[in-house]
Amino acid sequence: MSKTLQAIRGMNDILPEQTPLWRYFEGTVAGLLDGYGYRQIRMPIVEFTDLFKRSIGEVTDIVEKEMYTFEDRNGDSLTLRPEGTAACVRAVLEHGLSGGGQVQKLWYMGPMFRHERPQKGRYRQFHQIGLEVFNLDGPDIDAELIVLTWRLWKLLGIRDAVTLELNSLGTSEARGRYREALVEFLTAHLDQIDEDSQRRLKTNPLRVLDTKHPETQAVLVNVPKLADYLDEESRVHFEGLKARLDAAGIPYVINPKLVRGLDYYSKTVFEWVTDKLGAQGTVCAGGRYDGLVEQMGGKPTPGVGFAMGIERLILLLETLEQVPESIARQVDVYLCAFGEQAELAGLTLAERLRDQVPGLRLMVNAGAGSFKSQFKKADKSGALYALILGDDELAQQVVGFKPLRGQGEQQNIAWSALADHLATCVVQG
Ligand code: HAM
Repeated sequence: MSKTLQAIRGMNDILPEQTPLWRYFEGTVAGLLDGYGYRQIRMPIVEFTDLFKRSIGEVTDIVEKEMYTFEDRNGDSLTLRPEGTAACVRAVLEHGLSGGGQVQKLWYMGPMFRHERPQKGRYRQFHQIGLEVFNLDGPDIDAELIVLTWRLWKLLGIRDAVTLELNSLGTSEARGRYREALVEFLTAHLDQIDEDSQRRLKTNPLRVLDTKHPETQAVLVNVPKLADYLDEESRVHFEGLKARLDAAGIPYVINPKLVRGLDYYSKTVFEWVTDKLGAQGTVCAGGRYDGLVEQMGGKPTPGVGFAMGIERLILLLETLEQVPESIARQVDVYLCAFGEQAELAGLTLAERLRDQVPGLRLMVNAGAGSFKSQFKKADKSGALYALILGDDELAQQVVGFKPLRGQGEQQNIAWSALADHLATCVVQG
């Protein structure tokens, strides 16, 4: 007996019952980004492994443990993208989009892959919508990214459930000075910190700051503060961002331990977190990466961006019962036809209605069937109305118009008047 085929652990099918909510979410974000002048870019899902090593950082969890890396038939090492920033920077450089100081405001959407331990809100294939902005170095654009997410939370009805955490990592020089002080402090407390933090102390000491280990957290109470090591430029930038958020009335919490899991950040970092989803509470995260383009072979080019996790935001919409009722219905009208002649007439009538009533969602019964079975299907489709076409209706050139959700009595409507009738009671109503 062959083994039943199954999807890979942590990689989910998104079933027809769920796709309306995904499309609502993606459509809402796309509409919002159009309104702010962002343009979509689509990058491949697979890139050379080196791209991620050079950008995300060799000693990050993602590159060390989580990438889906394989050799292709040419012997090249390829990786399924674990995030979108690296590929976006690569595409921008490859096509000269940031040359001559051109400002680019880009967004992308799609699956990302990380070999993490799957749990609620954490998957091995997950989906992000990401934004990246190039060639703007002021805090005004950092603020715009936050302002537009704030608007998105309102549109989605989840604003009360999310909190903004902010920090500044400073320039790489400032971070270098801080790293030295941090290593000195942690080395003096080596026997009090957990094993993983001891390892990180050697490879990526800043990551010790976001340890989940309680004993190490206790040691960190007295750790030197990154804020005390910030260079003047980063401090002014951070103050500029805070002033703008204050002016926009967006509440935030300064989290001095927010360091992020990718190496490319400088100055601003931020996360939108919720306490409604358990352990995987970060729904959107990002920051500034002013050194990344140069590090990847381009001219010095400031960059800033973020990505939101679609699965987590969808879970949040469901948890908070903020799923609009209207999105569940995918069919407005179901046409039932009884007999060969009626079926033929139904086909032409349906096509004419589709021409005449833009936006109409009309499902035509397929596979014939009795009165009872066609009505059952009409009801199951979720349609508001059934159109009934039998020999009698055909002879009179009318259809039976039957409300399926208790909005009035069945009536006959002439074919010639049907388009107008549907336009008023279905599309506008
Ligand atoms: P990130 O923090 O690694 O940043 O991921 C951004 C968001 O993707 C997270 O806040 C979370 O909502 C979602 N996410 C990450 N991993 C998973 C997972 N395994 N399962 C479900 N959701 C997940 C980045 O990826 C950066 N590229 C963001 C950025 C863009 N920074 C600047 N520009």
